[in-house]
Amino acid sequence: MFPTHRPRRLRQNPVLRSMVRETRLGRENLVFPMFAVPGKGVRQEIGSMPGNYRFSVDQLVEEAKRVAALGIPAVLLFGIPESKDEQATGAWTEDGIVQQATRALKKQVSSLQVFTDVCLCEYTSHGHCGIVSPEACGGRGGVLNDETLELLAKTAVSHAQAGADLVAPSDMMDGRVAAIREALDETGFVDTPIMSYAAKYASGFYGPFREAAESTPQFGDRSGYQMDAGNGREAMFEMELDFAEGADILMVKPALAYLDILAAARDRFEVPLAAYQVSGEYSMIVAAARQGWIDEERIMMESLLAIRRAGADIILTYFAPQAAKLLK
Ligand code: PBG
Repeated sequence: MFPTHRPRRLRQNPVLRSMVRETRLGRENLVFPMFAVPGKGVRQEIGSMPGNYRFSVDQLVEEAKRVAALGIPAVLLFGIPESKDEQATGAWTEDGIVQQATRALKKQVSSLQVFTDVCLCEYTSHGHCGIVSPEACGGRGGVLNDETLELLAKTAVSHAQAGADLVAPSDMMDGRVAAIREALDETGFVDTPIMSYAAKYASGFYGPFREAAESTPQFGDRSGYQMDAGNGREAMFEMELDFAEGADILMVKPALAYLDILAAARDRFEVPLAAYQVSGEYSMIVAAARQGWIDEERIMMESLLAIRRAGADIILTYFAPQAAKLLK
């Protein structure tokens, strides 16, 4: 009798295939990143990320209503401020763009969870994720770690005060989760969770986002704080640190090129894991599909499922609305 096992037996029809499918993707797994800009009536498509927009707060609210109606549980907010400076004032000021957008969303789309990205790079004049000084990094110049922590903590608290349901630090400074946790606890936000971009790599896949957020560093790059693509063990170390500092959810970013990191983290950590399918991953798929070289919907669903299979509970993705429509 050959062969004893015929795996094809269980692939004979869609019902059987569905019954034995190990991993599923649901709308409840998705978070949609959105970009808020000053003004009114603004709905400006991002050239490098077709189908994604920069919205003024009024338009963001309208779009968020559609997002919520699709069954997407949460959005992740980014802001592009009126003006930028060395202290990233726009990041932590009470009437900052993310704070305004958060207040509006909590008031007008109350079913939606509002997550906020906590970073300074969209708000600094130089585009780095912290305070830049010639004295940093042993006098070689760069981003000052501990001074930056104060501003990050201030930013996170201002988001919580505006009503954010969760804060997500993406700066990659050392000790930022502890600093943010302490500041939130001291101001009465003990129940605000932190989803930390724990293993965030210095990646070319962020290219389209930087056009969207106008956050390309004016000099140098982010490899002095974001992780080196060659490092897997170090990612576990970064995640252990963030967990020990009080992170509630640990994130790997980007997703597709780092699924090994995600799978290793799944084996190692009991907390929920998130993965960020970043701008470049999105734009590559959309661009190839527009050329007629791949089937956009198919590749979208296949890549999202792969991210789930590798171990993510939560996927941050610009495909969220499109995927949610298919999953309905
Ligand atoms: C801010 C931040 C970035 C992204 C998320 N938060 C940009 C960066 O680190 O340069 C990238 C998201 C994307 O590419 O979709 N630090």
